[in-house]
Order: sequence, then structure tokens, then C-alpha cells
Amino acid sequence: MLDETKLNAFIGRMLGDLGGALSVPLVRIGDRLGLYKALHEGGPMTPGELATKACIAERYAREWLSHHAASGYLEYDAGSGKFTLPPEQAMIFADPDSPVYMQGGFDVAVAMMENQAQVEQAFRSGKGVGWGEQSQCLFCAAGRFFRPGYHNNLVQAWLPALDGVTAKLERRASVADVGCGHGFSTIMMAKAFPQSTFVGYDFHPGSVAQARIHAEQHGVTANTRFEVATASEFPANDLDLVTFFDCLHDMGDPVGAARHVRQTLKPDGSWMIVEPAAGDRLEDNLNPVGRLYYAGSTMICIPTSLDQPVGAALGAQAGYSKLSAVIAEGGFGKVRKAAETPFNMILEARP
Ligand SMILES: C[S@@+](CC[C@H](N)C(=O)[O-])C[C@H]1O[C@@H](n2cnc3c(N)ncnc32)[C@H](O)[C@@H]1O
Repeated sequence: MLDETKLNAFIGRMLGDLGGALSVPLVRIGDRLGLYKALHEGGPMTPGELATKACIAERYAREWLSHHAASGYLEYDAGSGKFTLPPEQAMIFADPDSPVYMQGGFDVAVAMMENQAQVEQAFRSGKGVGWGEQSQCLFCAAGRFFRPGYHNNLVQAWLPALDGVTAKLERRASVADVGCGHGFSTIMMAKAFPQSTFVGYDFHPGSVAQARIHAEQHGVTANTRFEVATASEFPANDLDLVTFFDCLHDMGDPVGAARHVRQTLKPDGSWMIVEPAAGDRLEDNLNPVGRLYYAGSTMICIPTSLDQPVGAALGAQAGYSKLSAVIAEGGFGKVRKAAETPFNMILEARP
């Protein structure tokens, strides 16, 4: 029999979910037109004040602010008619360096919607959709989505969690950052360790071109370069460190990639693999983070992997056991979880 209390609770949840989905374009407009920045810098504002500060039409400002107040993204004071961006919300919407900055997630949502027709077709055929054939805003969105986690953890916590790696980087190490995308991770490491040399490899030429522009902008071209190459064939040897940021599970042949990494490393070299945080079993991942990652995995990671030779399709929520088996099959004798955040697990593999 129908349980009305459960039905009402579920309707309430779905209203929240749909409200979130319909907020995506509004949040992106707020980001692109500098509305969060204006509220963050300017404090409480009426629609007229926001319109003047951000150079937008007042009628649109009022509707956007009203939506944001109804969403709990802004606070509204009926007495003064002003809207405020509280400091906690500012961390999500306005501060790109905050560990919980989520604008990139809204960009990924749009990229996933644009991918729908191709992925829907792939559901029927069982084939993949190439990384380069996906929505053209996916590449920037992915970089922007992952950057806050790297900015707040990579140099401060993840590299120091590896055995002896920071000391080598401080002296002079040779590093490959594979599947580097737009190169945020490569550039962060290159800035922190100017004595070491970094090569970012990715098989998507558009991303490599963008990474080269970023390297120029950040002034790291003296110790950094970017090249187009697959993870199973990038041309390197005698490396001290190889890094894979949120990309091993996207690869068609992760075991082939692991084998190749093994060959490129010095005997005492290290491989750092950053992957989405996930438990080994589905039941461990039935939570808000798992929900986001399964969505991304269905629309992006599985199609990307299935489009490549082997098509292992590990999925974004592969989990430690599956990942460590892949790494061991690639010829690594030791693997361990070196660090972890709510969003990522950091694995260290040694020959
Ligand atoms: C989710 S993105 C992560 C990009 C970047 N590492 C970051 O964290 O922002 C996955 C990246 O893996 C790359 N990729 C996927 N399969 C690859 C392969 N077989 N060889 C090299 N790169 C690959 C894609 O082009 C993409 O840039």
C-alpha cells in the first residue's frame, strides 16, 4: 500500500533536486557576470545596488537575487530589502582558492547535459564517446572542478605523504604528469619545486594547447613543458615521479598504462595516483559524493574509457581494491593509500 508520508518526503526531496538542477544556469550567470564577486566585495545589497555595481539590468538582478534567496544561497533581509552572500556561501561560489569552491561542478553539469545525445546513443550501442568528442566546455570544466582540491592539498599534504618524494623534488627530480588536462596540477608542482623538471602528457591536443598557454601565464616554462601522448606510450625514462590526477579510471587500458609507467620510472621512483574517493562496494558509495561521481562516471568516464583500446571502463568509483589490482598487474610490488580527502584518495605505488 502507498505510504503517504514516504511519498510526501520523496516529493520534498525531488523538489530540492529539481530546484538544484534548475539553478545551474543561474549560478553560472552569477559567476560569469561577477554577481558573486560584487556581493562578496560589496556586502549587503538591494537589486538596484547590485545592478549598478555589476553593470546589469535591475529587473534581472531582482529575479536572480530572489531565486538565490529562495535557494538559501543568499540571505534576504525584508526590513532593508538587501541580499547578503554569507561567508560560508562565499566559499562555495566566490572564492576560487577555497577548498570547497564548486563553480567547476556547475560547469561540469552543463557539459554533461550537452553530452546527453551522444551518451544516450552509446547506451544502445555499448560503444564509447571519445574525450575529444564530448562537449567542448568539458575540458575547462574538469580542470576547474578539480583545481580547488589540488590547490589546497597537493603541495601541502599529498606530495609530503609519499615516501621521500618531497626531498627529491626539492633537490632536482624528473617528473611526468600524465593525463594532465589543462595542466593545473603540473603547474602547481612546477611552481613549488623550481629545481625539478615537469612534463605534462595528455592524449587530447586541445587540452595540451591550453596547458601550454597556462604555463606561459604562470611563468613556469623554464622547468615545464606539455606534450601530446597517451598514457601507454609517453616517451620518458629515468623518472623520479609519475603523477596521474583523476584520470587512471578514464583510460581504456589502465593496466597497459601502469606497465608503461613502471618502465619509465627509476628503480626507486614513485607513482602517485589521485582517484575519486570511493569504497570498494556500491553500498559504500551510496552517499552525496558517490552520487556526483556516479553521474560523472556514467556521462563522462565510462564513455571515455570504452572509446579507447581495451575499454576497461573502471568507472570513477573503482575503489581501492580494484585500483590496487590494476597497479599490481602493471608490475608494481608495493601500493598503499598515502592520503585521503572527502573527494579523493591518493595512492602511492613503488616498483
Ligand atoms: C578527468 S580529466 C583530468 C585532467 C587533469 N588531470 C585534472 O585533474 O584536471 C581526465 C584526463 O585524462 C586524459 N586521458 C584519458 N585517457 C587518456 C589516455 N589513454 N592517455 C592520456 N590521457 C588520457 C583526458 O584527455 C583528460 O585530460
